Amino acid sequence: MGGRFEGRVALITGASRGAGRAIALRLASEGADLVVTYKKEQGLAEEVVEAATGLGRRAVAVPADLELSGDVAQMFEVARARFARLDIFVANAAATAFRPLLEVKDYNVTRTFAITVTAFVLAAQRAAALMGDGFGRIVAVSGIDSVGVMPGHGVLGAAKAAMEMLVRYLAWELGPRGITVNGVCPGLIETDSYRMYVHQGLGVDPAEAQARLIALTPRRRLGSPEDVASLVAFLCSPEGDFLTGQTVILDGGFSLLSPLGTVGG
Ligand SMILES: NC(=O)c1ccc[n+]([C@@H]2O[C@H](COP(=O)([O-])OP(=O)(O)OC[C@H]3O[C@@H](n4cnc5c(N)ncnc54)[C@H](OP(=O)(O)O)[C@@H]3O)[C@@H](O)[C@H]2O)c1
Repeated sequence: MGGRFEGRVALITGASRGAGRAIALRLASEGADLVVTYKKEQGLAEEVVEAATGLGRRAVAVPADLELSGDVAQMFEVARARFARLDIFVANAAATAFRPLLEVKDYNVTRTFAITVTAFVLAAQRAAALMGDGFGRIVAVSGIDSVGVMPGHGVLGAAKAAMEMLVRYLAWELGPRGITVNGVCPGLIETDSYRMYVHQGLGVDPAEAQARLIALTPRRRLGSPEDVASLVAFLCSPEGDFLTGQTVILDGGFSLLSPLGTVGG
């Protein structure tokens, strides 16, 4: 059965786990062939490939450390060699050290910006070169730490804010070719990173944190990787054609309330 992405090829970074995995499987379930990248978890990435193959898609897993420009180039080379085209690029992978700014080392800043900023620029260049004129989709996965302060997120928040600005500039440059560029800015989403941040970063019991988060979220639930995948799928679909240069906050309404609104209890 045909889907919205039938005949399209999508490259998703950090697709072995979490949101990236859900995005890859969602695009495949709607017809896309996949290039999925991972850093360490080859077995998990191969499981995504197997699942996509089971859906009748073609898929390949590529090791890529986004700190390395050569690896960024190589993942697009695999897309070119295997599929001879690219229609969708999702910059999803991220990594950082959750530390107060007064404690971060120079390499913490360099690594976080290499993955989120430098790799995004280089990857967008490679993606645009592979995309034909008329249709292309680039989606950057940002995070709510770009909007407000989250303890220990200073470096990542700054890198994600830069990424959101790059989304606007790329949308401006690539719009005339039919390529849209948008960002997705999730609140807390239940993944390995979320659990690590709550447990180690905040030092809070995960069950207790979950109950508090749900109580503060107008939709009264946590976000899931599938929520991120649904929004990315819309942005990548033909229906998303007139939306470009935007970053959509996806947090169940968590960030709507001004801090002043909490004063009254
Ligand atoms: N989870 C949340 O609450 C939340 C909130 C806001 C924004 N986000 C954003 O959503 C995106 C996905 O987050 P997630 O929670 O799904 O992450 P996750 O479950 O921790 O998975 C991270 C992915 O990135 C890959 N990766 C890690 N370091 C890498 C590197 N140096 N180069 C290339 N790939 C690397 C990992 O590969 P391996 O599996 O091989 O290690 C994995 O596939 C990120 O951009 C994150 O900032 C997440």
